Amino acid sequence: MLSQAMQTLFRPIAGLLHDQKMRRLGIRNTMKLAEHYNTRLYGRDQEHRSARFSEHFQELLYENGEFDREDVRTLIDGYYLDTSLTLPHLEEMLKQVDELLEERQAYTPTAEYRAFFRNLAKPDDVQRWPGILDFCTSSQLLATVCSYLRFIPAFSKTIPPGIRVVESGKHLDKLADTPPRDSQLFHIDPYATPMLYVIVLVKDCHANSGPFTWLGEADSQKAARALDYWDRGVPYRMDDESIYSVVPPSASHRLIYPRGTVLYIDPSRCFHYGARDNDDPRYQLMVSYTSPVRSDFSEAVRKGELLPGSTGDSRLRQLVLDRRSRA
Ligand SMILES: [Fe+2]
Repeated sequence: MLSQAMQTLFRPIAGLLHDQKMRRLGIRNTMKLAEHYNTRLYGRDQEHRSARFSEHFQELLYENGEFDREDVRTLIDGYYLDTSLTLPHLEEMLKQVDELLEERQAYTPTAEYRAFFRNLAKPDDVQRWPGILDFCTSSQLLATVCSYLRFIPAFSKTIPPGIRVVESGKHLDKLADTPPRDSQLFHIDPYATPMLYVIVLVKDCHANSGPFTWLGEADSQKAARALDYWDRGVPYRMDDESIYSVVPPSASHRLIYPRGTVLYIDPSRCFHYGARDNDDPRYQLMVSYTSPVRSDFSEAVRKGELLPGSTGDSRLRQLVLDRRSRA
């Protein structure tokens, strides 16, 4: 455990190391340091989550709600694509996200940074549209998420936010005619590893809607090794030429599917990009589950926001909502 004074003293250093996508020491070195630092702070919380998974997982799932063991998915090669449209609360969540989009699209300003992509959701939206949280914390969905991670995760608090409803497209971006940039280029997320994204298409996604695009874990790790990815001095964003010098373009997968399709993917193991050539807008629910022990310094340099809970929340839901929960 580190004292509050030590944490305050370390904060400016954490800021320098975190800055510019961990460029100073290189991503891999910074991740190791951050994991060490965060273990001192949150290692006990993580131990609790691992113990809850290995000793009480079934009990927590049943207490949280019905689920079918047969429908628990197994990620292969770093991802699982669910086109069944059968997850609990999916319909209800999609209807509520429609309402949110209708209300927010016209009024939400677009940020300068990464102008082609914006999050329209706020943390307390889960109280106004409870179907969103019901979907993200259902026993059926969490059974797949936790079985992959081998612990009970929490919603990410800083980057990326735990639950996002994202709109992307050229219509938001003054620089739409420039070459791909930022998350429009291949990268692997360094925030925590392993971690899991659940990405749900909230409208049909076509080839010209800037589909989320990824490589499986084996191809990603092959490319990462060949390109010294995460080494000091190697760029965080990789152009297509570099990636496709190692694996063929046919190795990439694109999330071109109907509304309601769900992709589970570990973005800390798989190269990915999205919102490129986004002529038509794309709409996704993006949910990020991580360990409380992250491999970046984002919680040292940003406040972040937890999603609100309610009295009567199951222990599983409490754990997912609150990174420090000992439920
Ligand atoms: Fe990413």
